[in-house]
Amino acid sequence: MSVFAEIAGWGMFLPDKILSNHDLEKMVDTSDEWIRSRSGISERRVVAEGETTSAIATAAAREAISRAGIDPQEIDLIILATGTGDYPGIPATACLVQHQLGIKSCGAFDLAAACSGFVYGLVTATQFIQNGACRNVLVIGAETLTKILDWTDRTTCVLFGDGAGAMVVRATEKEGGLLSFVLGSDGSGAEHLYVPAGGSKTPTSHESVEQRQHYIKMNGKEVFKFASRILPRAFHQALDKAGIRPEEVDLLVPHQANTRIIDSARQNLAVPKDAIYVNVDRYGNTSAASIPVALCEAIEEGRLKPGSILAMVAFGAGLTWGSAIWRWQG
Ligand code: ACO
Repeated sequence: MSVFAEIAGWGMFLPDKILSNHDLEKMVDTSDEWIRSRSGISERRVVAEGETTSAIATAAAREAISRAGIDPQEIDLIILATGTGDYPGIPATACLVQHQLGIKSCGAFDLAAACSGFVYGLVTATQFIQNGACRNVLVIGAETLTKILDWTDRTTCVLFGDGAGAMVVRATEKEGGLLSFVLGSDGSGAEHLYVPAGGSKTPTSHESVEQRQHYIKMNGKEVFKFASRILPRAFHQALDKAGIRPEEVDLLVPHQANTRIIDSARQNLAVPKDAIYVNVDRYGNTSAASIPVALCEAIEEGRLKPGSILAMVAFGAGLTWGSAIWRWQG
């Protein structure tokens, strides 16, 4: 009998603190009007001092596990998509989440694909389920981007926010789940969106700190061009693989970077008008957390019924992209 993957539980965590565009007007030379017209963002969430990526990931995961109605010990594998782990690479933040969830032992690793991380993670989880290696995989996207933002750089600090979203992906006999996917990368664009120092290329030094090289740097125009091009392309490639027409898509959850990117792609996406889910106005760009948080909200709003076609399309640093077409089992 074939094994399929289903999303059995979902959860999200957004920090309490809201930073509005008007708050930002007092911090850098910007305006609510500029931010809203260029990005569609009105406010974003910011973690409290001492609040870590593992803590918000764990909070989202607890909710997802409880909704799935399983014991945390039944989790076989944790995949945590993040670019802002508790430590710079060692150890993986997924291990901290495993410990905080009280799981005695399971596989746990971080997945580095920036804003595409959740889609990469969901596709990876499905492979482990479909080949029979795992029954329950926890896929989390969690970020504390506000900790690596340069609050003196108005070209980046207005765009990002913190948050976490988690899904329990479970083995099932119910037909559906992942119908097709596309994963891609183009490392020639690595320096369009990156943190220059703190890695093997430029290890941390007094100079790197003085030169503010540990914060996110972005070539906004290049990222914009790339994102507007890749969003419809990755979407249609995955749809073609699944043999699904755009008008059959019930819900499209794109990476929540910027409403202008989504709007510029809208015509080429050719999906029904109300199918595209957008919440970037409230949370800003939360990178790997953006799709699972948006998906949680959409599920809670009843946007998916058994048999519904869900499409997810992500793009981000790397440069990376990923799209997945999913038939909701309900
Ligand atoms: N407030 C006011 N003015 C600003 C601000 C700000 N926050 N930021 C930049 N400006 C100024 C610039 O300095 C520039 O001024 P100048 O003409 O005097 O030099 C002017 O506004 C126009 O700047 P542009 O860069 O041309 O603005 P643009 O229209 O390209 O919009 C933006 C900038 C919003 C960053 C856009 O390029 C964009 O959306 N890029 C994609 C960003 C993105 O989504 N990144 C993440 C995607 S991938 C991922 O999620 C990791």
